[in-house]
Amino acid sequence: MRPRAGASLEVQLGPLRLRNPVVMASGTFGYGLDLRGIVEPQWVGAVVTKGLSLEPWTGHAPPRLVETPAGLVNAIGLENPGVEAFVQHVLPQLSATGATIIANIVGKQVEEYAQVARRLDGTGAVAAFEINISCPNVKEGGATFATSPVTAARVVAAVRAVTRRPIFVKLAPMGADPVEVARASAAVGADGFTVANTYPALVIDTRSGRPALTAGVGGLSGPAVRPLSVRLASEVYRATGMPIIGSGGVETIRDALEYFLAGARAVAVGTATFHRPTAALEIVEGLRDHLETAGAASFEAWLDSVVPRVERRPAPEEQAFRFLQQTGAVLEGHFQLSSGLHSDRYVEKFRLLERPGVAEAMVRLLALRLLDLPAEVVVGPATGGILLAYELARQLGVSRAFFTERVGGRMQVRRGFSLPPGARVLLVEDVVTTGGSVMETAEAVEEAGGQVVGIGCLIDRSGGRFAPPVPFRPLVRLELRTHPPEACPLCEQGIPLSDPGSRRIR
Ligand SMILES: Cc1cc2nc3c(=O)[nH]c(=O)nc-3n(C[C@H](O)[C@H](O)[C@H](O)COP(=O)(O)O)c2cc1C
Repeated sequence: MRPRAGASLEVQLGPLRLRNPVVMASGTFGYGLDLRGIVEPQWVGAVVTKGLSLEPWTGHAPPRLVETPAGLVNAIGLENPGVEAFVQHVLPQLSATGATIIANIVGKQVEEYAQVARRLDGTGAVAAFEINISCPNVKEGGATFATSPVTAARVVAAVRAVTRRPIFVKLAPMGADPVEVARASAAVGADGFTVANTYPALVIDTRSGRPALTAGVGGLSGPAVRPLSVRLASEVYRATGMPIIGSGGVETIRDALEYFLAGARAVAVGTATFHRPTAALEIVEGLRDHLETAGAASFEAWLDSVVPRVERRPAPEEQAFRFLQQTGAVLEGHFQLSSGLHSDRYVEKFRLLERPGVAEAMVRLLALRLLDLPAEVVVGPATGGILLAYELARQLGVSRAFFTERVGGRMQVRRGFSLPPGARVLLVEDVVTTGGSVMETAEAVEEAGGQVVGIGCLIDRSGGRFAPPVPFRPLVRLELRTHPPEACPLCEQGIPLSDPGSRRIR
């Protein structure tokens, strides 16, 4: 079933160009060579490989697949021969077909993903990566990387560090909100998303009274999940405006059109291939017919005419600045600061911290800047520090957080908080003005036996003057123009002076 000529089906997904928008879903088309003669891998938009890990994985014992009325539940366990065997024995043949290859990668630790990506990147034969974040994170207790936007982003950042090729994150429908995972992944370098993976499901064999699959819970795919994944694709597209490969229950051209209209620029065909091996090719043909009927010159021209463009989200720093303005944490006008100087801006951090939703979102943006620091404990000074240290530790997956406080003018570790010798500590501060409090906290932590590995803060208003000897990662750098009262241009312009400060309260 060779594809015929007609309107151009080529499609650009961010930096990735495909000859048509129908790809073979990971794990359902082997390594692209099993159906040669029926579906040549170079006839489809791309072949997404079965998940590849650093070492061979044996997968679960059979039974590993069970049919349900409108789908399939599988618990294969990501069986694969390991990246080296793939590179030596499969990649040369697959690459020789001229197929576009998207390598799906898996891992049990962040470093494994990066190692697999580095090995594949070095071959020059892989067009893009698809990161499967639905894998157990062994170092952090076995929950999958998809259970928190920050843990997912840590995987993406590690892969981004070893390759310039396009990265698609395969979002998990359960766990953390996929939209938040997408935003966090985008902030650290993802180019697009596959939406979505399978849905956790359980089938019970009523004769034995036991789960039908040896592994117990498996992943549901097929038509049963299509409306769920179309909704997710639409939400992720509207939230990010980024390229999406729709995955879940694509069996016919009608199903593919649904995903395109929801904002996807390509679809992946998975379960359908098992019962109709030519399903993907039929969808390619159906798309040509559809474009002809619609009078469209090309697939992209048609997409542009039916799908509203969504603005890409602003960069994290800009997003953070908007939060500051919306909550009133940064006021613009004419203010008297506690130093006695006048300024055009005033920062009241508690406008941010009093709103848990905003604080959580801001801390997430900050956490994305601190992913690479090897922290075991997060410590923050005083009241703002308690809140931030707790939330930052929670999001980074760090198991402890505490705060320091000033006693008799001196910052101290109190209340029975203690550090194992050499514990790696990440400091977090709300606003850094001179860096005084944070450096006093660093001293207190070192006196208590800890080792400071980095400092994060929401707002740096030091004007670049705070330059500690460890990595310092502010979320927002805020310029405050200050003037002595006797030479204040704002006074000269007659702008009323406000005094919102708290330190002078008696
Ligand atoms: C048997 C089977 C194996 C799969 N293996 C993988 C895999 O290795 N990596 C991955 O990211 N997704 C895997 N998936 C998920 C599919 O790629 C796809 O996203 C999902 O099945 C939904 O699409 P569908 O309804 O068209 O099958 C697998 C699905 C099935 C049914």
